[in-house]
Amino acid sequence: MGRKLPPGTKIVLASHNKGKLREFSDLLSPHGIEMVPAGELGLPEPDETAPDFAGNARIKALAAAQASGMPAFSDDSGFCVAALGGEPGVLSARWGGPEKDFSKAMALVNERMGEATDRRAWFVAALCLAWPDGHTETFQGRVDGTAVWPPRGGKGFGYDPMFVPLGGTETFGEMDADAKHAISHRARAFAQVLAACFA
Ligand code: IMP
Repeated sequence: MGRKLPPGTKIVLASHNKGKLREFSDLLSPHGIEMVPAGELGLPEPDETAPDFAGNARIKALAAAQASGMPAFSDDSGFCVAALGGEPGVLSARWGGPEKDFSKAMALVNERMGEATDRRAWFVAALCLAWPDGHTETFQGRVDGTAVWPPRGGKGFGYDPMFVPLGGTETFGEMDADAKHAISHRARAFAQVLAACFA
């Protein structure tokens, strides 16, 4: 059984990504959990040097917990394409370049996929809760679907406009936030965090 957070505990959200901060505030608001973004505390962003999502989520949450002295929550996530051997994967943010241009990153994915007939793609989110004493709890969620081109829709963030979840017709970029949260990798991982650490 996971370590629990007492009700009312304030936690640091170890992310500087605006899209993720918005989605977490949607996911958290019904549960009365108060989170302070790492940026507001002036916490630095550690290098993400692990080879997998869970390892990078742990690096980020531990760095924020140890720097702030408060429990911290992180997300490491990415877009994976079967025809590219799972890339961009943990490098999803970096494919956007220093200017974080995801139109460019999506064009690169499309260019590298070329005429591949295998269009399977998925998003993964690893969420980690870390305590200042070094204890961590990590959970992972995934949503499967198809990579489409051209990109469609101006909602969401990152690679959302080129991803259609299995059984759907709209891209994540065309879907309302609530519809994305009903099935997303992040929401699936978050449901596990809630059950294990907030129940
Ligand atoms: P990181 O976890 O900060 O390394 O960045 C993950 C990157 O993956 C983001 O910058 C997005 O480009 C992409 N990503 C993660 N989750 C989503 C999502 O829900 N929709 C679209 N792109 C996402």
